[in-house]
Amino acid sequence: MAAEITTTLHLTPAHAPSIPDSFILPASHLRPSTTASSAAISLPVIDMSLPRDDLRAAILDAGKEHGFFQVTNHGVPDHVLRAMDAVCRAFFAMPAADKAEFYSTDKAKPNRLFSGTNYETFGERYWRDCLRLVFPLPSGDTSGWPHKPHDLREIAGSYTSLVRGLAMEILRLLAEGLGLRPDYFAGDISGGRVSLDINSYPPCPDPTRTLGLPPHCDRDLITVLLPGDVPGLEVAYNGDWIRVQPVPNSFVVNFGLQLEVVTNGVLKSVEHRAVTNSAVPRMSVATFIVPADECVVGPDERFVSEENPARYRTMSVGEFKRMHNVVNLGSSLNQITNVKKSSQQEVHHKEESV
Ligand code: OGA
Ligand code: NI
Repeated sequence: MAAEITTTLHLTPAHAPSIPDSFILPASHLRPSTTASSAAISLPVIDMSLPRDDLRAAILDAGKEHGFFQVTNHGVPDHVLRAMDAVCRAFFAMPAADKAEFYSTDKAKPNRLFSGTNYETFGERYWRDCLRLVFPLPSGDTSGWPHKPHDLREIAGSYTSLVRGLAMEILRLLAEGLGLRPDYFAGDISGGRVSLDINSYPPCPDPTRTLGLPPHCDRDLITVLLPGDVPGLEVAYNGDWIRVQPVPNSFVVNFGLQLEVVTNGVLKSVEHRAVTNSAVPRMSVATFIVPADECVVGPDERFVSEENPARYRTMSVGEFKRMHNVVNLGSSLNQITNVKKSSQQEVHHKEESV
């Protein structure tokens, strides 16, 4: 274990003159986000203290247009965000020996520290370390989480409960906006578990030649991201990338592929990526609302009609994830492609990676 951890990214010296070859991505896959159109557009910022009718409309509009939006006045207290940020930094700042016990390349382990992406790749690596923590439902048992720093379990545990509450509220607003009953997204589809990715992106000697995370769509129901105060998240929009400017004390919310499938594409899961920089470390915390593996998800009949036939196949979430865990460089990785109804493409079944 201790030998293995020396290969993780956080030990790569920030002052190293170059990055290892395996991190270098072909130029064609590194489209910069500096064109005029992306610079002029930013993600909608939604004040959640708006009257409910206005809030519902704002969330639905932003969701339909971008699949992504930022929320302020969301009800998670600032001190909780600060404590979470601080304890996550403290975790990554610990000596390697203290982190070594959490380090694992075994994708079946729910709680672990690893480097790069969780998707299968074709050998290329990504400039990111991640502490992944699973909050099982309904127990919320955090005993398998790191005991160091000593207050991590308590702070991250209450953070997770609060952020899950916010995610469920956003799902209620979406359900109402779509004309569904408010608790439509309660139950198995949001009740598998909560998964937390605490992302650490160290400064990178050559940010123009690598990425922190490849272009991907989140595969679960909905994601609530604490973006940190350093920019790095980019969201696909009209063939370009929008660089997200973090708003203090806000969250970035985006739809996962399961929400796209169940709404038959009314709400879309939009591709995004993380870029690196050479100056400052960046941290973000992604909270994923994960359906139960055995939950069977397909387009709801309310979104299907003769003029608008089902666009996706119906399958269990476990099956879905086995099919959609490969990062396909060059295809721009819209992983929904393989579940589109018309697709006859042969799919390689890989081991479950979550
Ligand atoms: C993710 C993700 C973006 C970021 O963890 O799935 O997209 O800014 N993170 O770290
Ligand atoms: Ni993501």
